[in-house]
This record gives sequence, C-alpha cells and structure tokens, in this order.
Amino acid sequence: MRLDFTAPEEAAVRLVVHQGQGIGSKMLRALEEHVKSKDVKKIVINARKGVENFYKENGFVYEDWTDPSEGIDRPTIPMAKYFSK
Ligand SMILES: CC(C)(COP(=O)(O)OP(=O)(O)OC[C@H]1O[C@@H](n2cnc3c(N)ncnc32)[C@H](O)[C@@H]1OP(=O)(O)O)[C@@H](O)C(=O)NCCC(=O)NCCS
Repeated sequence: MRLDFTAPEEAAVRLVVHQGQGIGSKMLRALEEHVKSKDVKKIVINARKGVENFYKENGFVYEDWTDPSEGIDRPTIPMAKYFSK
C-alpha cells in the first residue's frame, strides 16, 4: 500500500494485496480511518482497468484528478471517495 498526501484534505492511495480474500477492503477501511483522523476529506486513486468494481463497491466514484507521479505504464481510471462528516 502507498499513501501520499497530495493536496490539502486529499490523499492518494495505491493498493496491491493477495486477491480475493477480503484483504483489500479491510486495508482500505483501515486506511480511511487513518486519513480521516488527519482531516483528509477525499481519497483519490488511479484504478487499474478492470478493477473499478472493487473501488465502486468500496464507495468510490469516477472523478478526474491529476496524479503527480510518473511512470504509470498501463491504462488507469481516475476515481475518488469523499468522506461525509
Ligand atoms: C484490487 C485489489 C486491491 C482488491 O483487493 P481484494 O482483497 O482482492 O478485494 P476484496 O476481496 O476485498 O473484494 C471486495 C469486492 O471487490 C470486488 N473485486 C475484488 N477484486 C476485483 C477485481 N480484480 N475486479 C473486479 N472486482 C473485484 C469483488 O466484487 C469483491 O466482492 P466479492 O468478494 O463479493 O466478490 C486486489 O485484488 C489486488 O491487489 N489486485 C492486484 C493489484 C491491483 O489490481 N491493484 C489495484 C490497482 S488500482
């Protein structure tokens, strides 16, 4: 997992885990609790093509954002999740 604080109230996440055992959802929940405690209001991700449903099921929506990192060598889909109070 990689977490970057990319802007005020925004955090970018990269997630790679052993698939299909619920670990991804659990790690996402734990990460969300952590960043909420840092006053982050929105998590952004670049979903690997074909994995959008995992993020949709975890509350993400399609949203364009600017990824400051370089070298992404495969098609990705920008998505975001907003926290309500
Ligand atoms: C994508 C990834 C983080 C998901 O984590 P996971 O632990 O496998 O996911 P979970 O077991 O918590 O799955 C929760 C739900 O998301 C969906 N889901 C999970 N992986 C999916 C995938 N690859 N494609 C589409 N839907 C997926 C499933 O509907 C699943 O619900 P179900 O258990 O009822 O079928 C993990 O599979 C992974 O690291 N994959 C390889 C690297 C990768 O693609 N990372 C994402 C880069 S953006």
